[in-house]
Amino acid sequence: MKGNEAFTEDPIEVAWRSPSNIALIKYWGKHNGQLPINPSLSMTLSNSFSETSIKYRPGRYFGGDFHLVFLFEGEPNIAFEARIKKYLHSLLEELAFLKDSEIIIESQNSFPHSAGIASSASFFSSLALSLATLEGMFSGKGRATKILLPRASHLARLGSGSACRSVYGGFVSWGKLLSIKRSNDYTAMPLSLKHHPLFSGLRDTILIIDEKHKSVSSSAGHETMQNHPFRFARIQQAKNNMNRMLLALETGDWKLFSSVAENEALTLHALMMSSEKGFSLLHQNTLLAIEKIHKFRQETGARICFTIDAGPNVHLLYPAEDENIMQNFISEELVQLTCRDYKIDDMMGQGPIQIFN
Ligand code: DP6
Repeated sequence: MKGNEAFTEDPIEVAWRSPSNIALIKYWGKHNGQLPINPSLSMTLSNSFSETSIKYRPGRYFGGDFHLVFLFEGEPNIAFEARIKKYLHSLLEELAFLKDSEIIIESQNSFPHSAGIASSASFFSSLALSLATLEGMFSGKGRATKILLPRASHLARLGSGSACRSVYGGFVSWGKLLSIKRSNDYTAMPLSLKHHPLFSGLRDTILIIDEKHKSVSSSAGHETMQNHPFRFARIQQAKNNMNRMLLALETGDWKLFSSVAENEALTLHALMMSSEKGFSLLHQNTLLAIEKIHKFRQETGARICFTIDAGPNVHLLYPAEDENIMQNFISEELVQLTCRDYKIDDMMGQGPIQIFN
């Protein structure tokens, strides 16, 4: 069954486009399912997004279950379909309208599969926004953005933690922190502080150092924090780094921004190495890139720093106004460390948009 072929009548269709995000303060470790052990902060991207549509038809009998077809970039994807099925099953009580329905979910990414960009964040965010929209239609009230987005953030978190931040544009926090009013572990929220103009349209050039699939998934990585010897120190550090990052964003302090962002990236990988099983997702060229960035910064005072997620690829962060200098530096010094001269130029984005209905 492909697309509409599954339906004899026109289904209800909703679709959202949602960008990925890059964490500046890293979510690493969770409890009670999908609640983070520490607060995190990210920047929502612009060019790297997923588009996900749901075609939905109620009133079939599946004994309280649903019938799902999932297509990724036009093709069936058994492994991912199983993950989505499990996710939707876990939501059946919360989203009762899914019971006894036929559902076709189709998704595609603007970025290649292998790019090392968090596709689960953009995917689950776009799926959750579509589910929350359907839910709004079924409650008969529709949904104002004020209600829809927190609801979608909650649903996205249950699919993949970092996805709950992709529901909003700009800088987004997730997790309880005393200095952020109304912050909580259940939904992300856009930063209410006004960031300094230096950070408007912040650039993120992603160096694809290695395209291979990660040897340890994020979920397995989170688990290593369960009995990690540095667990409590890490939680404290993340809170301190959140507050330092908020100060940097508000005052336009690039040095502080850069030192916190790099400290978070290096801590994430140090936590992996110092976990019981001890592993590393870094590549030798990741380390070479770091060395080159530090040298360039020392010699020129350039405003550039890096962050790294749970993989070998390096995200270069720099102000929009420095784009030309940094692009020169990247093409002269860094691009040769990537596989196949592969980099993706992205930047801060405005957040998801509804593309159907
Ligand atoms: C290193 O959100 O992918 O990117 O909740 O198990 O789906 P699950 O994990 P995921 O973890 C992301 C970890 C990170 C840091 C971050 O994005 O904050």
